[in-house]
Amino acid sequence: MAQLKIAIVGAGSIGAGWAILFASAGQRVALYDPELEQRESVKSRIGERLTLLKKHGLLEESIDQVLNRIDIFDELALAVSGASLIQECGPERVEIKREIFREIEGFADREAIIASSSSAIKPSDFTDEMKYPERALVIHPGNPPYLILVGEIVPTPRTSESVIERVREILESSGMSAVLVRNEPKGFVFNRLQGAILREAYCLVRDGVISARELDEIMIKGLGKRWALIGAFGASSLNVKGGIRAHVARMGESYYRMGVERGEDSPWTPDLVEKVASDMEKKYPVDNWEEDVLERDEALMKLTRLMRELGR
Ligand code: NAI
Repeated sequence: MAQLKIAIVGAGSIGAGWAILFASAGQRVALYDPELEQRESVKSRIGERLTLLKKHGLLEESIDQVLNRIDIFDELALAVSGASLIQECGPERVEIKREIFREIEGFADREAIIASSSSAIKPSDFTDEMKYPERALVIHPGNPPYLILVGEIVPTPRTSESVIERVREILESSGMSAVLVRNEPKGFVFNRLQGAILREAYCLVRDGVISARELDEIMIKGLGKRWALIGAFGASSLNVKGGIRAHVARMGESYYRMGVERGEDSPWTPDLVEKVASDMEKKYPVDNWEEDVLERDEALMKLTRLMRELGR
């Protein structure tokens, strides 16, 4: 991909993180923030992270090569002019995002894509007054974006498919996996999953089942460790010979009852199980189960060694 100019509006922790991701991938980055203190500190905050990335072998070029691709602006118009992608990273308040989007649209090139990093606000709620809403959407990163390498692309019903595809290309060419989230669910998917775990975790601590720290032992040494390598549906696919269908046959009723205990009545219907199974079997075919389990175990061995080094 030819070098792009990417404008980042808001130089807090997420703005600085995006700057590291894009500049390390060879893009030109224009960072804008209305606060002098943020503008003055952002290059040293980025420099510190680049130094650590270099130390851990995660940066190919020199720190200066990457830093030289980042320019800091005190005028929004200059930062966004000529940018192909404008990534808004301002405060998480709908009225502020609406105002920033209005301002950005006044200065942006006609072809520019305008994205928000919003964690939970639906893009339809702050792009409704835009002149060209087909170019607006959310790209929700994890924190920090240069290490949590998956971005949720959340379009509105008015975002064009070509914009979605272009965003996917830009993210993937910067080393970030892109996932498409339809229908603008509250909290998108990353935070809905996080919320589901946290809701149950709080209930378990409240009910005296387990302490907070021991619960986290299960997350770190148990679920999180496995999920880091194969995901939630992947873990179900490989836990029971026969994959998803066999896992649901064995465990589905029990998980359903746990949901009912919490007032949730969301059965895994046969159609739904079929949908999940047929998608997951593209990755983990049932007739390759033994080999996939071996591969999982070997990956867990490597991760176990790394966790030991980290004292986890
Ligand atoms: P932050 O508070 O560190 O940074 C916000 C920045 O926006 C500040 O530098 C501030 O000076 C600047 N700002 C204030 N008014 C502005 C305006 N009118 N125009 C442009 N910039 C303005 O916040 P953070 O954590 O970087 O979050 C930014 C966005 O990213 C939020 O929407 C947040 O929900 C989202 N996000 C945050 C994550 C996190 O874990 N911190 C994870 C993923 C997304």
